[in-house]
Amino acid sequence: MPEGNSSDVHAAVSNGNPPPEFELPYPDRPEVITANLLKLVEQTKSPRNRFIFKVLVKHLHQFVNETDLTTDEWMTAILFLTRVGQKCTPLRQEMILLSDVLGVSALVDSLNNPVTGGATENSVLGPFYTEDAADVELGDSIASEGKGEYMYVEGQISTTEGKPIPDAIIETWETDANGYYDTQYTDRTHPDCRGRLRSDKDGKYGYRAVVPVSYPIPGDGPVGELLLAMGRHNMRPNHLHMTVEAPGFNKLVTAFYPEGDRWLSSDCVFGVKKSLVVNLKEINNDEEARKRGFPKGGSFKLLSFDLVLVTEEQHRATRSQVDEELKQ
Ligand code: BEZ
Ligand code: FE
Repeated sequence: MPEGNSSDVHAAVSNGNPPPEFELPYPDRPEVITANLLKLVEQTKSPRNRFIFKVLVKHLHQFVNETDLTTDEWMTAILFLTRVGQKCTPLRQEMILLSDVLGVSALVDSLNNPVTGGATENSVLGPFYTEDAADVELGDSIASEGKGEYMYVEGQISTTEGKPIPDAIIETWETDANGYYDTQYTDRTHPDCRGRLRSDKDGKYGYRAVVPVSYPIPGDGPVGELLLAMGRHNMRPNHLHMTVEAPGFNKLVTAFYPEGDRWLSSDCVFGVKKSLVVNLKEINNDEEARKRGFPKGGSFKLLSFDLVLVTEEQHRATRSQVDEELKQ
């Protein structure tokens, strides 16, 4: 047995598959390389994977041809992707960030959650969701005192036919007035500016929060460099995240974007949709503020949004309709 890990290397080289049963011409011209690979891809057993690999190869090779890519440029790309991978830790997902800033996350989400009959649209989930949000009662606060300007969030959850959905589980999270999520503080001891609650028997929900603030997505890694190279900013307009789950319904992953934000029309991760832009109503009424439970009273902003969920059945039907349209 040779020294070191050379036996592992051999195991990695041969996967046991024999050579193909057909002859391939020697790849001595660029187009033969593409044609040979496409022929090899035909051996893929799963029809869906075969289709995906075929289209991937077609577009990847077309990209190289169309850009007349130099060896140095390709190496730069490889080293860039290597650094994207190396930047990932259990708390930092640079690969998803890359997908986000290239609009791929938003595109995949749009295709998978087509707009249906008045249903609330999706928005990007982002990396700041955590599972440890505390349960809050209706009307309670998801933010500890002093985290920002008071905001009350309320609405009703219903089906596309207008039937209220009781007991839906809402998870919600946002930045504080500094534009930071709780997980971005190194001294975080407990979840803050996030919570989990249930709609009441009439599908209604309401909770206290703070006005979120626009913030930069992490710019200290290779994705940040890419944005700079493209002359793009790394800002997200202020927003409040929300997911809603109820048995028999497609899970909604969305966010609300208060109007007037400077970054609204150029969100660096393409999460804003017109239907998700909201007007924050200023309620300048001390009594009303105290009635809603804001300890210091004064005034607060009101975010009202009625959410409409699609059933799993409706979701499946719309998805297959989109698939059919794409095939034509
Ligand atoms: C967010 O909204 O939390 C987010 C989404 C995509 C990338 C970075 C942050
Ligand atoms: Fe966010």
